[in-house]
Amino acid sequence: MQLEKILQSQGFGSRKECRALIRDERVTVNGAVIRDPSTNLPTDDLVFAVDDQPWRYRAQAYVLLHKPAGHECSRVPTFHPSVFTLLPPQLALRDVQCVGRLDQDSTGLLLLSDDGQFIHRWSSGKKQVPKCYRIETADPVSEADAARLLAGVQLEDEPAPVLARAVVLDGSHQLRMTITEGKYHQVKRMIGALGNRVTRLHRESVGGLSLPADLPEGQWRWLEAADLAQLAAYD
Ligand code: URA
Repeated sequence: MQLEKILQSQGFGSRKECRALIRDERVTVNGAVIRDPSTNLPTDDLVFAVDDQPWRYRAQAYVLLHKPAGHECSRVPTFHPSVFTLLPPQLALRDVQCVGRLDQDSTGLLLLSDDGQFIHRWSSGKKQVPKCYRIETADPVSEADAARLLAGVQLEDEPAPVLARAVVLDGSHQLRMTITEGKYHQVKRMIGALGNRVTRLHRESVGGLSLPADLPEGQWRWLEAADLAQLAAYD
């Protein structure tokens, strides 16, 4: 693929802007400056650098973000900064989108990608992808509450009861709940249906993939092939 097209595909700007980057001698491959924008390079395992910052070519972007509270998943946020402010601008430019959303006050595992099929696969409620949330509540939670969540609670505007796939009580005001749909404010509404209220909501896992313990809040990393395999490895 031509170098100017490679840069464009990786979110370094328009074709014209990428051509200018190359002509300004800001792009290197294996330490050598490439001055001709039409230079053809194999993209397999390609690592190039722009202003000495290395960047690996990726046909599609798969990203995991440890979302902090106080950020909206929307690109055009209303009241809080967007999660996209936590990512390099190249990801926004190549049209990476959130795979399902977390509320602004929720934290935890957020997937992002520019692969439309991937986004649909992992955000569609029809696919029954398990998502596990750690929840803190305003009032105590009981075994009876857990049983109600497992049996299904009626939410406003839903034709049928909505149920949790798994519930574990972790403390007087703490539980972990796994759901397989992605309805609007689903966890908060399910806890609300018990007459209780969520005070903290943290997503621990999606499919077979858990939030890495060593990834601090606000930080992101690429998902590699092993992570994608782990994502898909769930019952
Ligand atoms: N359910 C909610 O209510 N909020 C979230 O952020 C995620 C799931």
